[in-house]
Amino acid sequence: MNMFAPAACRVRAISAPTRRAPPVISTTWSRNEEFSILGFMRKHDTPMAPQRELMGRQREPGLNEAQAGHCARMHSHLREQIDAGGGWLSFERFMDAALYAPGLGYYSAGARKLGAGGDFTTAPEVSSLFGACIARQCAQILSALGGGSLLEIGAGSGRLAADILSRLETLGALPDTYRILEISADLRERQRRHLEQSLPHLLGRVQWLDQPPQEPFDGIVLANEVLDALPVARFRWHRAGVEALGVVIEDGHFAWAPRPAAPAMAEVCRRLSESGGAWDDGYVSEYCPRLIDWTRGVTQSLRAGAVLWFDYGLPRSQYYMPERHEGTLLCHFQHRAHADPFRYPGLQDITAWVDYTLLAEASRTAGFALSGFTTQSYFLAGLGVHEEMQFMAGGDDNRFARLANEARQLMLPGEMGERFKAMAWLRGLDLPMSGFALQDLRHTL
Ligand SMILES: C[S@@+](CC[C@H](N)C(=O)[O-])C[C@H]1O[C@@H](n2cnc3c(N)ncnc32)[C@H](O)[C@@H]1O
Repeated sequence: MNMFAPAACRVRAISAPTRRAPPVISTTWSRNEEFSILGFMRKHDTPMAPQRELMGRQREPGLNEAQAGHCARMHSHLREQIDAGGGWLSFERFMDAALYAPGLGYYSAGARKLGAGGDFTTAPEVSSLFGACIARQCAQILSALGGGSLLEIGAGSGRLAADILSRLETLGALPDTYRILEISADLRERQRRHLEQSLPHLLGRVQWLDQPPQEPFDGIVLANEVLDALPVARFRWHRAGVEALGVVIEDGHFAWAPRPAAPAMAEVCRRLSESGGAWDDGYVSEYCPRLIDWTRGVTQSLRAGAVLWFDYGLPRSQYYMPERHEGTLLCHFQHRAHADPFRYPGLQDITAWVDYTLLAEASRTAGFALSGFTTQSYFLAGLGVHEEMQFMAGGDDNRFARLANEARQLMLPGEMGERFKAMAWLRGLDLPMSGFALQDLRHTL
């Protein structure tokens, strides 16, 4: 997967860490739940800045010397890309560069990213219960296959890998190998250190890959919060015609600039508008042109087994509702979320929600059967999260209370329980999976 390209930056004061309701509408969670506040900003948290912000090059408060220097280098790099494109760069290429430009992009350079001292937290960082439940699902699949290997894409701090391996060991269901496809060199090191410290005796089973495995294998491919980083194309809808939103330099700053969409983009938008409802003139959103090819690429060598995707997202009809007229772009910097991708390119994460209908379409293209789609909450409940809490607490009431609190963060609708979904694809295997037994949302896709 070559997602490398360019990006830029300027730094301006970032909004206070207040949160407001996301640009997303749920049919089941309450507004009060949307406003709930946790200690750390999770990756799905809410934007609060205007969509259009300009960027300068002067150093602003909040960035240290190294960060300001990084920002300046990124700015020059992106500026070159914009110049090379005749003064206009598609947003998809801008996002690609901002996240993946070698040595400069958010995932290619050395930012801490996850956890305290980073920019956001994720389900495995919230609780080992997440990995323990996934391990139960993996044990079921590996048992049906008679063994196999795991491939995790984008392993972050390595916690999920450690939690899964540790629980699989106690379940007597260790995989032959646990491979990690990780784009970030510094996160690889962090993963290695975490696994060395937590499971030194299992380190021999763990391998890091630079590209998807080429040789066929049986087992499981899984990824938590990776799809949301795939660069998206941004568009503005008008009855008279669709515009592609790209990036230009205005007075030395980045700015949004429209140009008439190519026929292929106009056609995609026409189809999206049909599933979402009547859009007003000026409706802005995004889609992920590379999701189908990328998911096929990372799953192609799985001969028999399951692919498990976890991320925040919606079925297409909800994603492209008329009310969500600014799309779902979201950036994270030091546990604050905002909607301005121009603010700290190279230093901030940029994400968009997953169109799960597109991911379901991708399963067919990649030769899999779509076998489950549910919320994170129901996935964890189906796998016996309560039993896991008891197992992990080992009779210690204080520990049980802590785990109960973590489970709430993972499962409540206003926390991570509903916005995050789980999807499973199967190939060469027919298996009713426990994680999808309690709720089947495939009809919504
Ligand atoms: C938001 S973090 C999630 C980390 C971890 N899965 C978790 O849940 O804590 C995204 C992870 O995916 C990795 N990543 C991003 N884009 C990737 C790509 N195209 N290929 C492989 N890894 C990628 C990042 O380096 C990082 O490890």
